[in-house]
Amino acid sequence: MKVLYACTELYPLLKTGGLGDVGGALPPALRDAGCDVRVLLPGFPAIRTGVSRSRLPHASPLALPDGEGPRLAQLGLRQPPALQPAILPGSGLAAYVLDVRTLFDRPGNPYEDAQGDNAIRFALLGWAAACLGHGLDPHWQPQVLHCHDWHTGLAPLYLRQTAMPGPPPASTVFTVHNLAYQGLFPRSSFGQLGLPDYLFGIDGVEFWGQVSFMKAGLQSADRITTVSPTYAREILGPEQGCGLDGLLRERSAIVSGILNGVDYQLWNPSHDAMLAHPYDCDSLQDKALAKAGLQRRMGLEERPQALLCGVVSRLTEQKGLHLVEALADELVGLGGQLAVLGNGDGPLEQAFLRAAARHPGRIAVEVGYDEALAHGIMGGADVIMVPSRFEPCGLTQMYGLRYGALPLVHRVGGLADTVVDATAENLRAGRATGFAFDGFDAQALRPALRRAFELHAHPDAWAAVQRTAMRQRFGWAEAAGRYMALFRSLGPQAAAA
Ligand code: ADP
Ligand code: GLC
Repeated sequence: MKVLYACTELYPLLKTGGLGDVGGALPPALRDAGCDVRVLLPGFPAIRTGVSRSRLPHASPLALPDGEGPRLAQLGLRQPPALQPAILPGSGLAAYVLDVRTLFDRPGNPYEDAQGDNAIRFALLGWAAACLGHGLDPHWQPQVLHCHDWHTGLAPLYLRQTAMPGPPPASTVFTVHNLAYQGLFPRSSFGQLGLPDYLFGIDGVEFWGQVSFMKAGLQSADRITTVSPTYAREILGPEQGCGLDGLLRERSAIVSGILNGVDYQLWNPSHDAMLAHPYDCDSLQDKALAKAGLQRRMGLEERPQALLCGVVSRLTEQKGLHLVEALADELVGLGGQLAVLGNGDGPLEQAFLRAAARHPGRIAVEVGYDEALAHGIMGGADVIMVPSRFEPCGLTQMYGLRYGALPLVHRVGGLADTVVDATAENLRAGRATGFAFDGFDAQALRPALRRAFELHAHPDAWAAVQRTAMRQRFGWAEAAGRYMALFRSLGPQAAAA
C-alpha cells in the first residue's frame, strides 16, 4: 500500500516537540509493516540541508499546478513552486520537499508568523499534498494521504474540492496531535486560499469568524485519528474539544485513537549514546551513576538518596508545570531535588529560576532546548513529572518508564493510557509503574508527590516498580499495525493495494 505521510517535523532533521519524534519514527515503522511510504515536508532550512539528494531513483522535481488551490500569483514567485525529490537520512525513505525559499527559508521557530503569511505557507503545503494525492507524480500515487495537525489541515479539503484527470485520488487520514493548536487565520486570508466562497461558513473552514485549518482537516478527512484512545474520547466533549467537539461528535464514527510509540533505538538506557553509563532492568544499580552524573551536570548536590524529580518539557500552559513550581519548596523540604529542562512561557521560566536561586544545590533549572540533557534527565531522575492539564499522548512519560524514572502524571489523555498508579492494590499485583492524580491543582498533585517520597523510602519496593516500568513496551510496530488496519478499512482504493 502506498502512503504519503505529510508533516512539518521529523527527528533528527527538525523537532519542536513530540510531533518531530513521531515524524522520525512512524514512517519507518509503516515501511517495516509493509507500506510503501513517502514523506512530504516543507523546505525549512533544517530540512533542506538535512536531506540527501545524492541517490534519487524516485523522481525529478515536480511543479505544482496553478489555477486551483492557493493563489500562486499572490506569492510573487518567479517560477511555480516545486517539490524536490529527496532521501531522508537514517531511514532512507523517499521524500518530497516543498522548496519555496521565500516562504520556508527562514531562521527560528518554523511556525513563527513574523511575515504574516503562515496561512499561505501551510495552504501551499496542503495543496502539495493534495496534488500528490491526485497523482501529480506520474510514477507514484499514494492510496492514502496521512496528514498531521493543522499545518496539513487543508490537504484533505483541497483533495476533495479538486477534480483532476486520472485515477481516483487517495483516501485521507487526518491525525490530531494537539487540538489546541488550530491554525487560525483572519477572515481576510480566506481569499488567498482559492476555495469557493461557500466554504467560509459553518460547514466549511469558518470558526468564529476566522479561518481554521484544523477544522478543514476535521471536516473533510475520510478518517480522523488522535494519538491516544483516551484523548480520542476527551475531544468529543466540551472540556477538551476546544470548540470543535460538536463537529467531532458529528463525525465520531470515524474518530479513533492510536497510541504513539517510543523509538527504543533512541530511547533506551542500555545503549543510549547520550548517557555516560548505560544500565537496564538487571543492572539498575548503575542508574545511580547516571543520577550522580546528572547531579554534577546540573549543579545539584551529589546525594544518592535524595528523590530526584525531573522535568523535560515545553513550558506552556498545557503542561501544568506551575503545579510543580507551586510545590517546589515543599519538595525540597521533603529532602527531594528538582531538575528542570524547558523553555516557553517567560513568567514560568522566571518562577523556576527563582526557585533554583532559593534552593541552590537542590533545584536546578536549565532554560533552553537540549536533546542530550533530555536523555540525561531521563537517565538520572527517579521521577519524571508530567502534570499536564491535557495531554494528547505525551512521550516523556513513556521515556521515563523505559529509563526507570517513574512518571508522576495528571490522569488525562495518553498519560492515563500509559501509567499505572502505584495504589496499594496495583503495588500488590505488581502492576504499578508510576503515580497519577486527578483534579488539576497543587492540592491534587501533593498527595501523589508524597506517595512517591513514601515509596522511595523503601528501596526494594521502589526498584520493583522501576523494573515493571522498564519492562513496558509501547513499540511503534504496534501503532503501525493499527494505522495499517485503518488504512485498509478505507475502501477499495486502499484495500486493493
Ligand atoms: P509535546 O509534543 O506536547 O511537547 P511530548 O511529550 O509528546 O510533548 O514530546 C516532547 C518531546 O520534546 C520529547 O521528545 C521531549 O524529550 C522533547 N523536549 C521537550 N522539551 C525539551 C527541551 N527543553 N529540551 C529537549 N527536549 C525537549
Ligand atoms: C503533541 C501533543 C503530545 C503528543 C505529540 C506527538 O505535541 O501535545 O501529547 O505526544 O503531539 O503526538
